[in-house]
Amino acid sequence: MYGMIHKAIRDMVKTVHGEEAWRAVLTESGAADGDFLSLRAYDDDIAYNLVGACSTILGASPAACLEDFGRFWILVTASQHYGDMMRSYGQDSFGLLNQMNEMHERISSTFSGYKPPHFTVEMRDKSTCSLHYRSVRQGLSPFVIGLVLGLGEFYGEAISIDLESTNSEGGGEYSVFKVTKTLPAGT
Ligand code: HEM
Repeated sequence: MYGMIHKAIRDMVKTVHGEEAWRAVLTESGAADGDFLSLRAYDDDIAYNLVGACSTILGASPAACLEDFGRFWILVTASQHYGDMMRSYGQDSFGLLNQMNEMHERISSTFSGYKPPHFTVEMRDKSTCSLHYRSVRQGLSPFVIGLVLGLGEFYGEAISIDLESTNSEGGGEYSVFKVTKTLPAGT
């Protein structure tokens, strides 16, 4: 996987917990070095090992760590580098989620041969949708939760997300989330 998750993990651990905690995570994970580049593809195992190491060193579950990384990635990394692109693809969280496949597709020339997830948004009513997430990988559904919560904060919306089901599918994962937006009074 491209350095997206690796960098989110490193940047968050360093920012929130400090350099020393990051060194401990890196040693625990067995990764050779921590100079991850966004535009380089790394073995998926490195990301999974980093998540496991964070869980051990920081004393939080792997799912809680992944959720934090997702939120951090949107609010720090994506906001800094891709804020304009996100706003041009969506005026709000639901709008962007609806355009996620197109947006991942658009950047496929930069990240050649990458395997982004696939999202489908199904509106239940004007404030609630079912978000269908399909990935060739397993175990990243908590990362999606953090990303979506981050999107809510990015757009200044009150968003909640619940995992409704998750299943293995062709070596990867298919999860359905219920995403709810609290509409301003009177709408
Ligand atoms: C804003 C700019 C964004 C960029 C540049 C971007 C780019 C990428 C890249 C390079 C990967 C690694 C894929 C690989 O190496 O095979 C990735 C993975 C991923 N992206 Fe995005 N992404 C963006 C926004 C988002 C948003 C807003 C969401 C969801 C709400 C999202 C969901 C994911 C997930 C869940 C993965 C993990 C891989 C998987 O599930 O299999 N991304 N993205």
